Amino acid sequence: MDAQRHAGQTAIVTGAGSGIGRATVLQLAAEGARVIGCDVNAAGLGETQDLLAAQGLHAEPVTADITVQDDVEAVLGQVGGAPVDLLANVAGIMDHFAPLDEVTDELWANVLAVNLNGPMRLTRAVLPGMRERGTGSVVMVASEASLRGGTAGVAYTASKHALLGLVRHVAYFYGPQGIRCNAVLPGPVPTQQSQPVPPASQADGAMAGAQAGWDGAARGAMAFGDRVRRDSADDAGADPVDQPHHRRRAGAGHGCRPDRRRRDDAPATPPRTGRRAP
Ligand SMILES: NC(=O)c1ccc[n+]([C@@H]2O[C@H](COP(=O)([O-])OP(=O)(O)OC[C@H]3O[C@@H](n4cnc5c(N)ncnc54)[C@H](O)[C@@H]3O)[C@@H](O)[C@H]2O)c1
Repeated sequence: MDAQRHAGQTAIVTGAGSGIGRATVLQLAAEGARVIGCDVNAAGLGETQDLLAAQGLHAEPVTADITVQDDVEAVLGQVGGAPVDLLANVAGIMDHFAPLDEVTDELWANVLAVNLNGPMRLTRAVLPGMRERGTGSVVMVASEASLRGGTAGVAYTASKHALLGLVRHVAYFYGPQGIRCNAVLPGPVPTQQSQPVPPASQADGAMAGAQAGWDGAARGAMAFGDRVRRDSADDAGADPVDQPHHRRRAGAGHGCRPDRRRRDDAPATPPRTGRRAP
C-alpha cells in the first residue's frame, strides 16, 4: 500500500482527542493527509498533538462539540474552503448499559445527540462540496451494537443501529454521485479512556455523575451482565442471535472492559477553553 496514499487530501476526524479517533488522526497524518481533528476535550486534543509531534507529524486541532451547529461550522471554518476528501465520524459516548425501563430522557437525548446527530451534522456539512466535486468518502464508526441488542444499553444500541441507517441513506442517495459512505463496526477496543466524555454543554448535574469514571461504568457492566445472564436463563423466547453472544461476553462492551481505566488526570468534564485547542 502506498505509504502516502492520502497526500494532498484533506480529512476531518471527530473524536480526535482519544482512542480510535486519535489513532485515525495519527494514521491519516502519517499517510500524508491534511487532518483537522476535532474533539470536545481540548486536553485530549493536546495529547494527540504531542503524539503527532513525537512522530514528526502534524494535524489541526479544533475544540468542538459535534452536537452544536456553531461548533460544526467552526470545524468547517478551519478547513478554510479546501475540498474535504475524507470525513471520519468517530466521536461517540456510551450509555452506562441503561435498559429501556431505566433510561432517562436526558441520557437518551445525550447519547443520540453525540452518536447520531453529530455524524449527521458533519456529513451534511461536507456533502455539498463532495457532490460538487463528484468524490468523497465518509466513514462512520458504528459498533457491534449496531447489529445486536445485547452489547449496550438502549440509547447506545438505538443510536448505533440508526447510524447504519444514516450510512445506508448516504450510500444510496449519493453513491451514484461519487460519494462513498461506509461503517466500521468494532468489537471491544481498549481505548485510552475507559469512559467517553459527554459534551461539556450537557455534562452538568446528573449527567456528569452518570458519565464520569470507570467505577460507574464497571458497575453498570456487571449489573447489565447479570441481568442478561438472568434473562437469558429465564426467557426461552430471547433473541437466538443475541443469546450466545450474551453468554460469551456478558458485561463486555464499549467502555466497560476490565482492563480499561480512566487516566488519573483525565477530567470528568472536559474543559472548554475556546473553540480551538491551543
Ligand atoms: N472502544 C470500543 O470498545 C468501541 C467499540 C465499538 C465502537 N466504538 C465506537 O468508537 C468510537 C470511538 O470510541 P473510543 O473507544 O475511541 O472512545 P474514546 O472515549 O476513547 O473517544 C471518544 C472521543 O469522542 C469525544 N467526544 C465525545 N463527545 C463528543 C462531542 N459531543 N463532540 C466532540 N467530541 C466528542 C471524546 O471527548 C473522546 O475524545 C465511538 O463512536 C464508539 O461508540 C468503540
